[in-house]
Amino acid sequence: MNIVLLGAPGSGKGTQAKRLEEAFGIAQLSTGDMLRAEVKKGSKIGRTADTLMRAGQLVPDNLIIALIETVLDDEACRDGFILDGFPRTVPQAEALDVMLETKALKLDRVLELEVDDEAMVERISGRFTCANCGEGYHDSFKPPQTPGVCDVCGSTEFFHRADDNATTVRERLKAYHLQTEPISAYYEKRGILTRIDGMGGMDQVTKDLTKAIEAQPQG
Ligand code: AP5
Repeated sequence: MNIVLLGAPGSGKGTQAKRLEEAFGIAQLSTGDMLRAEVKKGSKIGRTADTLMRAGQLVPDNLIIALIETVLDDEACRDGFILDGFPRTVPQAEALDVMLETKALKLDRVLELEVDDEAMVERISGRFTCANCGEGYHDSFKPPQTPGVCDVCGSTEFFHRADDNATTVRERLKAYHLQTEPISAYYEKRGILTRIDGMGGMDQVTKDLTKAIEAQPQG
């Protein structure tokens, strides 16, 4: 099962992609995580991406397409993948089609999380992550069970992302509406797009996504 998960910054893509990865045994491929790993390494791609990400802008299509191309052949993707944060422009969507065709693969579902802009800003401003295992949290919606201690690994070190501030969030939302939203129409025409209400609680959203994945494809 090969899935694209669309949605604006803070709509819950990362949260839900991790749950679906576990439930369906498919690999989560997050271009944001890949870029942050490149930034940490200090690679050439990382240095280019760092400036753009801090400004809330998209990194160039050619860089991101090359990154994705390298991971689709990974053993982890043998039973399928869920793309989280890619494609983000129509040229990226077109490049993905070419890549999949070359590898004799196809997209089974495109799922789009719909969330109000205001809720996204609230979600992003309260988000923090365990520095040791990467588990994601939120001040109000998903605090650790013991304050200051990661539920998963027990670490007491957390961090906020460099691009999770009010100014950058507005730029990221602008980029989303301008460059990423047109992708919905691209997939809608092909009959593989399902819109999911992302405003509910995390468990409800997981249920709705699961239902859409398990439903028979239309057409
Ligand atoms: P990326 O890392 O992909 O960030 P994003 O798309 O901005 O999305 P986020 O990670 O901020 O949010 P999310 O939707 O995953 O939400 P989450 O589950 O964490 O990209 C970062 C940057 O990299 C981009 O700006 C760009 O520069 C670059 N980039 C990446 N891919 C690119 C590409 N393809 N092309 C070009 N550039 C690219 O949830 C958010 C918070 O809300 C969490 O705290 C969570 O606990 C909480 N939450 C989640 N669901 C719910 C719920 N249902 N109710 C209440 N709270 C919830």
